[in-house]
Amino acid sequence: MGEDLGFSKGLAGVVADATSVSQVQGEDGRLIYRGISIEELAEKSTYEECVYFSLYGKMPTKNQLTKFNTELRHNRVLPKAVEAVIAAAPRSAHPMAVLQAAVAAMGFDEQPVNLKNEDANIHNAIKIISQLATAVAHISRDRRGLSHIPPNTEMSHAENFLYMLHGKVPNKEEARIFDVALILHLDHDFNASTFSARVVASTEAKLSLSISAAIGALSGPLHGGANEKVLEMADGIGAPEHAKEWVLNAIATKAKVMGFGHRVYRTMDPRAKVLRGMLEKLVATKSDKSTYETLRIVHDTMIEELGKTSKDYIWPNVDFWSGSLYRLMDIDSIDFTPIFAVSRVAGWSSHIIEMWRDNRIYRPSAKYVGPTDAKYQDIKNRK
Ligand code: SDX
Repeated sequence: MGEDLGFSKGLAGVVADATSVSQVQGEDGRLIYRGISIEELAEKSTYEECVYFSLYGKMPTKNQLTKFNTELRHNRVLPKAVEAVIAAAPRSAHPMAVLQAAVAAMGFDEQPVNLKNEDANIHNAIKIISQLATAVAHISRDRRGLSHIPPNTEMSHAENFLYMLHGKVPNKEEARIFDVALILHLDHDFNASTFSARVVASTEAKLSLSISAAIGALSGPLHGGANEKVLEMADGIGAPEHAKEWVLNAIATKAKVMGFGHRVYRTMDPRAKVLRGMLEKLVATKSDKSTYETLRIVHDTMIEELGKTSKDYIWPNVDFWSGSLYRLMDIDSIDFTPIFAVSRVAGWSSHIIEMWRDNRIYRPSAKYVGPTDAKYQDIKNRK
């Protein structure tokens, strides 16, 4: 990686645009949404309030929040066309593929983008943020052969999602933990899926199609798909007593340990800290602690072993602990990345709305390394 390629592989360190939606302070392990730390928002705010803050750039008054909540709650029912797209998907399809199609279908009747009408674009975003949660719950129940649970307008975003997913009213503590998890995943400056959303939206493509593109990026195991891979890793290790040996082998074979490393953080991901804190509280109330125990040993062994050589990727990221928290809420690991999208759709929307205020199509240059004077050869002469 040290040689000068004349470009930055993976756009590492490249400043592609300005934003005030969020900032990842990699050296200090700090994340702020429009200036407020996620620790303070996790303690004092709700997902709905943070979505408003992210979209509009200011915290809502009581009346504004009430109005916003009403709009979110009354946009939860999916259009027939979206239900039809979800129903058409094979049960074997990964939920992220079905979700990408479902969100594109949310735009079947979307009007062409009018950059001048920010209010209309925000209301369109609110509709997608609301419907995406319903789509994830419906897709999960289809995969499990269960009937859809209609959304409940009396419940918060987090409560209603868990209710539609499980078919029963969640307990208050788990609903609050899930609400905080949604806050923590809401935005993260120019991560791959947010950058994808911005690239597509910079062409003035519809909001639904820009968000659908972001879902594609999030699905990859190096990005949002890592949370599901962490649980696959924990299940593959089998039992806590095998964890240390597994990690030592992974380090020896230079295998990637999912849930570790980050392009920007050079210390602990602040979200991982908050998630671990909630996980330890919840696991104390549960009988099955094996997944947590296995991950705790993976975590400690990675830090202990790689810390000796001060490798800068030895820190866990947001995906390391989130899955074991969701598992304690009886959520299947295949639904973890769609849940990441349930939260991050607000960040993607906020970046698009911000970018459209002063839009310019994203079109970077390329360093061409191919031949420049090749000639066409007739097929009969080719070898
Ligand atoms: C998310 O960008 C964001 O903000 C994303 C995110 C968000 O909120 O949007 O924070 C969410 O995507 C978190 C990351 C989830 N992905 C994983 O946990 C997958 C495992 N992590 C790695 O694939 C990696 O760390 C990345 C993808 C997260 C970062 O990739 P980089 O910055 O391109 O780093 P790299 O792959 O070039 O690694 C640099 C070195 C390499 O060693 P050398 O070849 O230099 O010897 O660190 C090593 C890597 O092998 N390394 C790891 C590792 N991560 C990096 N080695 C073992 N295990 C790992 N997890």
